[in-house]
Amino acid sequence: MSRALIEKIQALRAQRNAVILAHNYQIGEVQDIADFVGDSLGLARQAAATDADVIVFCGVLFMAETAAILSPQRTVLLPDPTAGCPLADMITPEALDELKAEHPDALVVSYVNSPASIKARSDYCCTSGNAVELVQALPAGRPILFVPDQHLGKHVMSVTGREMILWPGYCPTHARMDAEAIEDLKRRHPDAVVMAHPECNDRIKALADEMLSTGQMLAFVGRSDARRFIVATENGILHTLRKQNPEKEFFSVSKRTICPNMKKITLEKVLWALEEMKHEIRVDDETAAKARRALDRMLEVLPSR
Ligand code: 13P
Repeated sequence: MSRALIEKIQALRAQRNAVILAHNYQIGEVQDIADFVGDSLGLARQAAATDADVIVFCGVLFMAETAAILSPQRTVLLPDPTAGCPLADMITPEALDELKAEHPDALVVSYVNSPASIKARSDYCCTSGNAVELVQALPAGRPILFVPDQHLGKHVMSVTGREMILWPGYCPTHARMDAEAIEDLKRRHPDAVVMAHPECNDRIKALADEMLSTGQMLAFVGRSDARRFIVATENGILHTLRKQNPEKEFFSVSKRTICPNMKKITLEKVLWALEEMKHEIRVDDETAAKARRALDRMLEVLPSR
């Protein structure tokens, strides 16, 4: 890691009155220079509350779009414009319109991992950290269309007991995860607590002791008396888990549990973003206004979480 590079980033961050937000799946060096590192919910809150002029979003496109929707008066930069999310792109506005036409009395809940055009067609957004509480707060008796992640949807259904109509989307990085690898880790470390992200498939969920968003994993480990943890989510989170808990041991499911899009952001790209003020992420006013309503409802329903 180059000290000169970091110093240049620090100087430009101050000069531009910028804040650097990073998701828990970012590479360690990027997490280390960020003003805030967190899960999707924490990042949405930070984006809504910041008074910086510029938000450099170290994450993927839907996260930067969410920041642009919640902070329309600020400049939101994504250091690599090709950092997308295949899960978010598994649903199209046309497909959602068709589904809504088939279920005209349904409420639409979209996982924040979705494009702005999908949020704009939704009644509520949710994240993996608040999906259960959000669905519990919805009026009984109304059908719910839950898009686009089937695995988070199934998790919500199993905890709340509430039936929902699920879109069959999935995160390829979580879907690739191997249940046998977790079984093997459990055999070798029988005292280890298995923490899994709700985007994991049913076989992984069946092996999990705790189903948690990335932010919840960090909080859970901090208060847990356990000393060993098997971490069933993208490996970027191991950086902060190890940094915050040097006395505890963490096992990733596989070296391959890597989101290629999250890893596109590097320190060099963060510097270039601040130097050249790009790549600016904009959402058109009409889409942003509608999407903001669904995001605001999420933040209003669960203000304290
Ligand atoms: P979290 O909100 O748990 O950080 O999840 C975000 C995400 O993109 C998972 O793949």
